[in-house]
Formats: sequence, C-alpha cells, structure tokens
Amino acid sequence: MNPKLPPLQRQIGEAAACIALHLKAKPEIALILGSGLGELVNSIDISYVVKYAEIPHFQASGAPGHLGQLVFGTLLGKQVVAMQGRLHGYEGNTPQQVVFPLRVMHALGAKTLITTNAAGAINANWQVGDIMLITDHINFTGENPLTFSQLETAYDPCPDMSFAYTPALRELAKTAAEKTGIMLREGVYLGLRGPSFETPAEIRAFRVWGADAVGMSTVHEVIAAASCGMRIVGFSLLTNMAAGIESKPITGEHVLEVSSSVGSKLAAIVDYLVESM
Ligand code: HPA
Repeated sequence: MNPKLPPLQRQIGEAAACIALHLKAKPEIALILGSGLGELVNSIDISYVVKYAEIPHFQASGAPGHLGQLVFGTLLGKQVVAMQGRLHGYEGNTPQQVVFPLRVMHALGAKTLITTNAAGAINANWQVGDIMLITDHINFTGENPLTFSQLETAYDPCPDMSFAYTPALRELAKTAAEKTGIMLREGVYLGLRGPSFETPAEIRAFRVWGADAVGMSTVHEVIAAASCGMRIVGFSLLTNMAAGIESKPITGEHVLEVSSSVGSKLAAIVDYLVESM
C-alpha cells in the first residue's frame, strides 16, 4: 500500500485488499442489515463470509441481534455484500469506525447501498410491524463521520444531502412494495446516538420537526455513502411505537422479537428491488 496515502485511505485499502483475495467477483450492491434483520441473507447464494474481527482495522460488533460478519454472494443474479449486523455509536465506536465497513464495501466495488434498521414509530397513525421507506433523515447524533476524515479527493468532503436517498431507487422501492403486495409507509428517519430510548418529551419535539421514525443508526452510514457518491435506499422496520405513544415500556428484546418476526416482509421488498436494479 502507498505510504503517502492518508492513514484512513490506507486502512480502507488494506481491509479491501485482504477481502478481495477471497472474491471471484466484485460486489455491486451493499446491504446493511439492522437489528434482528440478519435473516435477510437467507436468499443470498453465499460465496464468502468473514467476521469483522478478522478484517484489518474493523471493529467487532457486539450489539444484540448483530452477528458481525460480511457475507458475499449472489442475490437474484446480482453480486452483493451484506453486513450481517452493523456497528453503532452507542457501543463506543466513533462515527468514523461506524462507517469504516461501508467505505470498504464501496472500495470493493459497491455503488449502491440498501440499508435497513429497526426503528420506533413517531407517526402515531402507523402501526408496529409497518415498513417505512426512508425519504430523508435528521442526524441528531451531534456528530458527522466526515469530520476530519482526510480522504482522497475521490470522496466528496461536503456532500449535498438534498437527494441522498436516491429518488429513482425510492420509486423502484415503491414498485417493489406494490408488486409484492406489502404496504410501504414513507417518511423521515431521525437518528440519535442512544443507547437509552427517548423520553416522551423528546418524541413530541421530534414529531414537530417532521420526523416519522426514530433509531440509533443509519444516518452516519448514509452520509458516508453520499460522500462516496453511492446510490442509496433505506428502510425502517417499525418495531414499536416511540416513547410516550403507548403506555407500555420499550425494550430491546421486544425490538428484536418484532424485527425477526416481520423481517420476511422487508426481505421480499429487498429481493424484488435487487432483482429489478
Ligand atoms: N428508539 C430508538 N431506537 C429504536 C427504537 C426506538 O423507539 N425502536 C427500535 N430502535
């Protein structure tokens, strides 16, 4: 690796080179599988699996419902790489560490990102188990993964976020939902660092800001993907009503239970989407 490259650039190159040794084809599409959604890999014809802990410069994923491995293979005729479990800020990772796997998937060839998460529904008209197509986001983590990232000029240091969730892919996602007969909500995702769930007062404030769903991921990965010039489409699986909407408490176990039981609906949309890309 060229020693003159900025350190982060060199680390991305080292991680990608180590993985590329095992690949026969470059992945075109990167998938990030959120809490309890790891089963979405079931339809991938797998060619190579590697644990994050075995990849240079990767952090291991320790969150419940996140296996922490990259899965390579073919999904409905397309070369894909799936993050079976993501990294979170609430595990103590910096935003740069959270987006490192995304940068490596891009370096390996992925030009499109399909990202998924479990989220709480702020929109009180929606229901647990609904799926939301992310139209836009509010980054309320107070941090940005591009801060001092010192990458080469191939990356946009200040990407325009106006069309980050690629309009053409959003249309395709809506077609996918129609064709598979699955109802798809559309709305704004608000991402914060966690790990505590929100207070009812925070949720009331977020609703006024125009947020429809809330979670602890996704926004940093999407910012980094936009900086890489990737096409992006994102889905939230609404595992619970956000704090204060219902009188029952929110638990991580319940989030995982719902996401694994309804995950197959999201898998059907993702499969259709990948096939028609
Ligand atoms: N808040 C934050 N993150 C979440 C939630 C929530 O209500 N549900 C699933 N992930």
